[in-house]
Amino acid sequence: MTAVAHQLAHKPLPRGVAAKSATALDLAKIRGDFPILAEKVHGRNLVYLDNAATSQKPRAVIEAIVRYYEQLNANIHRGVHTLSVRATEAHDAARQTVRQFVNAGDTREIIFVRGATEAINLVAQSYGRRHVAAGDEVLITAMEHHSNIVPWQILCEEKGAQLKVAPIDDQGELRLDEFEKLIGPRTKMVAVTHVSNALGTVNPLREMIEMAHRRRVPVLVDGAQAVPHFAVDVQALDCDFYSFSGHKVYGPTGIGVLYGKRALLEAMPPYQGGGDMISSVTFEKTTYNVLPFKFEAGTPDIAGAIALGAAIEYIGGIGMDRIAAHEDELLAYATEAVGAIPGVHLIGTASERAGALSFVLDGVHPHDLGTILDREGIAIRTGHHCAQPVMERFGIPATARASFAVYNTKEEVDTLVEGIHVAREVFA
Ligand SMILES: Cc1ncc(COP(=O)(O)O)c(C=O)c1O
Repeated sequence: MTAVAHQLAHKPLPRGVAAKSATALDLAKIRGDFPILAEKVHGRNLVYLDNAATSQKPRAVIEAIVRYYEQLNANIHRGVHTLSVRATEAHDAARQTVRQFVNAGDTREIIFVRGATEAINLVAQSYGRRHVAAGDEVLITAMEHHSNIVPWQILCEEKGAQLKVAPIDDQGELRLDEFEKLIGPRTKMVAVTHVSNALGTVNPLREMIEMAHRRRVPVLVDGAQAVPHFAVDVQALDCDFYSFSGHKVYGPTGIGVLYGKRALLEAMPPYQGGGDMISSVTFEKTTYNVLPFKFEAGTPDIAGAIALGAAIEYIGGIGMDRIAAHEDELLAYATEAVGAIPGVHLIGTASERAGALSFVLDGVHPHDLGTILDREGIAIRTGHHCAQPVMERFGIPATARASFAVYNTKEEVDTLVEGIHVAREVFA
C-alpha cells in the first residue's frame, strides 16, 4: 500500500484540512506561488529536490512575515496597547491553526518551540529527567535522525539509563517484532520517527503506539518528515508527544511545534525559565504559568508562528490528501526512473514510503554526484542526512537523496534522471 493509501485507510483527515478529492493539482499555479522557483542556478531552471532539508516558501508565508513587521509588530501578552493586542491575537490564531492541522483536542497542547530538535530536547529534559532513573531504558529505532538520538543519549548518560535501539531490515523497515520485544519493564519512553528522513520509510505508528501503551510506556513521535506529506491526526494516533519543524512544511525557520497530551504536559516541570512562563515571581518562590505558556519562556518567534499558520492555511487550501496523492505519484515515478539507471542502488525500499528517495551510484561518490547535479541546476542533498547509524546499517558513508514537495513535477524527475546520466558519463 502506498503511504497515502495507508494514511487514508488508517486515519481520518484532521478537521480543518479540506477533504478535497485527489484530483490533479494545478501545478503551474502552485509553482507560481513560490517565487524562488523562478531562480536560475548556473543558468539553468532551478530543480529543487532538497525538500526534506527545508521546503521553499509560498508568497503567502513571505507576505505574512512582511505584514507582521509592517503592520503588527509588538511584543505579545504584556501590552494593553492596540498593536500588542493585535499581535497577541494573531499569535493565538496561529496556535489554533496548528491545533487543527494535527487535530489536537486543545490549544493548550500546542507548544511553540524553535523546531523538532527543540521539541524533542524539551521532552527529554522535562519529562525524561523526571521519569527516567538509573537502570531504566529509552527505546528508539535504528532509523532516527540525530535529533531523536542525542537528546536521549544525554538523558541516559546523566541518569545511568540505557538507550535501546530497535533494528531495521534491508528494506529500511522497522523490525516490528524486535521493537515489541524491546519494550520491557524498565522502558520509560519510546521515541520514534513517523517518517525516516534518510530512507523515506513510513513507520506503522498505530501498532507501535499500541504496543508501547499496552505496557504503559509513553510515545514521542518525531513528525518532522511526516506533516509536510500527509494528514496527521494526533488523537487518532494516540501518541503522547508529536514534534515537527515549521520550515519543512512551507513555514519559516526558527519555529516548530511540540504537541503533548495535556495531562502529561500539566505534570511536567518547565524546560526553561524566564518571562512569560511564570504567573508570579518572588525571590522565595515562583509559580509557573498555565499551559502552553509554562513551556514558552521568553519572547517567542511571533512572526514565525504567524507565518507557520499562513503556511498551514496555504496547504490546507490545496488539500492535504491531494498533496499526498501528488507526492506519492511523484515518488513512485522517481523510484522507477532513478532505480532503472544502471549502477544505481536504492537505499530504502520499504513498502510504505513518503517524501524521499535515497540512492548510491556505482563509482561516483554522492558528493561528486551532488556537485555535478548542481551544475545542472538540480538541488539534492548528499551525505549522511544527520542519520549516521542508518548509513552504518547499510554499510555506506553517504547517500544522494532527492526529496519532494507539492510543487515538484515529473519533468523535474526527468531532469534529475538526465543529470545522473551526465554524472555516469563524467565518471565512466
Ligand atoms: C526526521 C527528522 N527529525 C528531526 C529533524 C530536525 O529538524 P530541525 O533541524 O528543524 O529541528 C529533521 C531535520 O532534518 C528530520 O528530518
